[in-house]
Amino acid sequence: MIKFIQKPQGASLAFMLAGAAWFVVGALYGMVSAIHFVSPEFFSNIPALVFGRERPIHVNTMLYGFTGTMLIGAGLYYVPALLRTRLWSEPLAWAGFLFWNITIASGPLCFSFGYTQGREYSEYVFWADVSLVFAVLCLIVDVVMTIAHRREKQLYVSVWYLVAALLWTACNYPLGNVMWHPSTGAMPGLIDSLFLWFWGHNLPGLLITPLATGAAYFVIPRAARAPLNSHTLSLAGFWFLVALYTHIGGHHVLQSPIPNWLKTVSVVDSVAMIVPVSIVVLNLWLTARFFGGRVWSDPAARLVMGGIVWYIVTCVQGPLQSLPFMQRVTHFNNWTIGHAHIAMLGFGGYIALGTMWHVIPLVTGKSLYSEKLVSLQFGLITVGLTGFFVVLTIAGLIQGGAWHNGETVYRVLPELAPYFICRAALGIFILTGALVGLYNLAMTLWRGEELSAEELQRAEEAA
Ligand code: HEM
Ligand code: HEM
Repeated sequence: MIKFIQKPQGASLAFMLAGAAWFVVGALYGMVSAIHFVSPEFFSNIPALVFGRERPIHVNTMLYGFTGTMLIGAGLYYVPALLRTRLWSEPLAWAGFLFWNITIASGPLCFSFGYTQGREYSEYVFWADVSLVFAVLCLIVDVVMTIAHRREKQLYVSVWYLVAALLWTACNYPLGNVMWHPSTGAMPGLIDSLFLWFWGHNLPGLLITPLATGAAYFVIPRAARAPLNSHTLSLAGFWFLVALYTHIGGHHVLQSPIPNWLKTVSVVDSVAMIVPVSIVVLNLWLTARFFGGRVWSDPAARLVMGGIVWYIVTCVQGPLQSLPFMQRVTHFNNWTIGHAHIAMLGFGGYIALGTMWHVIPLVTGKSLYSEKLVSLQFGLITVGLTGFFVVLTIAGLIQGGAWHNGETVYRVLPELAPYFICRAALGIFILTGALVGLYNLAMTLWRGEELSAEELQRAEEAA
């Protein structure tokens, strides 16, 4: 046992494997959610699958369980690799793994029976919150000590992003989840919406975004076998993110009576987010400039590049929907659900998957069982997600337009039925993509060919 938890990169592998498994679980619950919209009576005799219970399981399992877990696992590989050292403590990373996964498992276990704090993105009950904070603290100590023992002087931007994501989460999670009120995890009245959306915004913005950006900065130069276009720009993008993303959560509650100055700041800086996003995208694009063919033909890097394309779409849509006149039509309907999926699966999920496939041979010393299955996964998810985006955006516009014209909710429902049926059908592509990925990963561990020492060294030294 002691030998097992001290094995180099064991915790990194465990995180990625768990991420692939949570992707399947989350997709199954996503299908259950989608079926509810097609046929609300379908699961009516199963209390654990009531929409209000299983929807948060889908959402939390996807965000923390799939995207977050997989990106942390990849980070536990690339941080020591970039610093030319070993992870400071494998057992500590395993402790992080245990606490992190206890929280995620608490989703299906507690929400199914109605135990929840009932605030979107902050549903985990108090002990699960504590477990998540312990996990993050273990990881922070491990990563910071790895930095302290590094043999490489330069701190590449991926290291900045990973450390920052963990530090921000250690501060923001307890605050947004109001952990000093263990029984409710909430503040009274309107003020609670500010705390709630402080975390609801920082979960994508200051956990998933930095983890995914750091991972993309690791994979793209390696896949292109070219140096990063500009280290200065990479840090400029980082600091702009810090300066802007931290306080724009108000754009989620523009329709509520929160202070006007807060709405103004959040709208202006949401639009200004175009700056850090452009910096990241341009920097990575210019890195791959002459080697685009090489990057796109590598199945793992293709997923990361696909993630960057979705990042552009998300961050064109994001500032637009932050404008109050747009939100009058796009808020409270499926438009936002479309945005959430291209952001979380398109940007975060694609980069998580691509980085995982890129580092798995380095972590396990085995070649991938099948690169074709990686491409198949890319294809399946791309069909599903592109369809989701189109269908949900149209459904959102129908809803927004109707409500804007004073139409009642129930009269719009029949018009939405075809879109909900399409969403459920498209979900099968994403679920199949998740299953194909888990199968490919399991087969890589079981049947993947051992890389020779030379091949492994070549792979490690790429770029
Ligand atoms: C099998 C594929 C999937 C299906 C069928 C599906 C379906 C759904 C459904 C029906 C909802 C509830 C929408 C509502 O309340 O109106 C939802 C919400 C959500 N899903 Fe998925 N989903 C899938 C995959 C994913 C993936 C892979 C991710 C992230 C990596 C994700 C992230 C989310 C998020 C963040 C929300 C909450 C959106 C919001 O409240 O704005 N989903 N999903
Ligand atoms: C330039 C960057 C972005 C801006 C300005 C932006 C803006 C917004 C706005 C205004 C909303 C609320 C829409 C409404 O309720 O009417 C929203 C929702 C959301 N955004 Fe973004 N977004 C950006 C990028 C991202 C990224 C990169 C992610 C993920 C990593 C993300 C994830 C989400 C999610 C999950 C929601 C749904 C929240 C809910 O349940 O209501 N966004 N975004």
